[in-house]
Amino acid sequence: MTGYVFPESFVWGSATASYQIEGAATEDGRGRSIWDTYSHTPGRTLNGDTGDVAADHYHRWREDLGHIADLGLGAYRFSIAWPRVQPGGSGKFNQAGIDFYSRLVDGLLERGVRPVATMYHWDLPQELEDAGGWASRETALRFEEYAAGIVGALGDRVHTWTTLNEPWCSAYLGYASGVHAPGRTEPAAALAAVHHLNLAHGLAGRVVRETAPAADLSVTLNLHVIRPASDSEADRDAVRRIDALANRAFLGPMLDGAYPADLLTDTASVTDWSFVHDGDEKLIAVPLDVLGVNYYSSTLVRAWDGVSPRSDADGHGKSAATPWVAADDVDFLPQPGPYTAMGWNIDPEAFTELLLRLHREYPGQPLMITENGAAFDDVVSADGTIADDRRIDYLHRHIAAVADARAQGADVRGYFVWSLLDNFEWGYGYDRRFGIIRVDYDTQVRTWKQSAHWYKRLAATGRLEPATS
Ligand code: FCB
Repeated sequence: MTGYVFPESFVWGSATASYQIEGAATEDGRGRSIWDTYSHTPGRTLNGDTGDVAADHYHRWREDLGHIADLGLGAYRFSIAWPRVQPGGSGKFNQAGIDFYSRLVDGLLERGVRPVATMYHWDLPQELEDAGGWASRETALRFEEYAAGIVGALGDRVHTWTTLNEPWCSAYLGYASGVHAPGRTEPAAALAAVHHLNLAHGLAGRVVRETAPAADLSVTLNLHVIRPASDSEADRDAVRRIDALANRAFLGPMLDGAYPADLLTDTASVTDWSFVHDGDEKLIAVPLDVLGVNYYSSTLVRAWDGVSPRSDADGHGKSAATPWVAADDVDFLPQPGPYTAMGWNIDPEAFTELLLRLHREYPGQPLMITENGAAFDDVVSADGTIADDRRIDYLHRHIAAVADARAQGADVRGYFVWSLLDNFEWGYGYDRRFGIIRVDYDTQVRTWKQSAHWYKRLAATGRLEPATS
């Protein structure tokens, strides 16, 4: 692509999540979440890092809003911590928690920035996990109550309500491979979690439609672009199976109103899916104003022959248990580099492919890039600058990939860089830095990396210069 100018209506934003930046884990009545428990369990996170303090955003939110405004961004995607606004996950709401988000939303509006609020970015109240977590239908019902509370309080001051962030991770990493909270390794529970997260989305979506009709409704999915190692029928079938677990388990009920038949057959040895009740799928298919897409890297699979050494290089962390329920006969192959500090391959073409697939399969469904970005080992030079050329290059190539998809007809309305700030990167703790703004965790000083300056220029002009190589 030889340069591209995004229209003025294209939204430039940045994204964060509550547990990754807020800190203040025990302040103002906040309850505990599964991530508090998980990160405080020895051996679960790199260096034993926890989100207790994180980027201290709970106390520094005004300064952080200042950065968003200085960057000239039109939108900010943040998440609401369920245990901060409804400790325990049922019953009474915590006014201090609601006030925090209310001030944040007003602060964004005062600065002309659209608030895009995610209801659930993985911090489930621990009490609900103790009662079964996402493997239990009750959790979806509790989520509806929580949604009613926050939508009632913030309503259409929030421009876009996003029900869930990456339910794939919540279900499969949380309940099958256990590399995310709550750290369970129960394949049947993972599939039940898939459904109850989908159901939670439908129930909360209905709340938004009824309580804040002027607000946009969305959900954010981490869709996988899956390629076969060869053109053999077996490898192509491996793609189909992983596509069912990774993508169609969510796209199916949310956008087509039904689970794909092959998913149910593929997983029949694990569950009979009797947790799907009559009417659930219809409820889940609540119409979306925008579908949120998170993209970082691509996936390469082959049918496993049962004897050759496996790679299991799916990029989703190391565990003895697989996140890929009932797909032991599929192997994930290492991919050609270059890689980010996460070990994820850099593959912008796959991003274009994904957006075009969505455009083809769901014509008329507007799309929003709700996360894209890269971790690299940043170096602070003697004069304090952070020349993160590789991050700029990554962003440049991926935004060009979005431009390519748009040029071919995909209705992509905006782009949120992950992330505004360095933050607690889940199992990788503070070791992996995704921010366009550096956080010094000793002093909490924020410093713009070169990528922040670059992104500010892009947001101001909408003009993406051709990539240099
Ligand atoms: C996504 C998560 C986000 C962040 C990025 C790197 O899976 O939604 O919180 O950790 O990956």
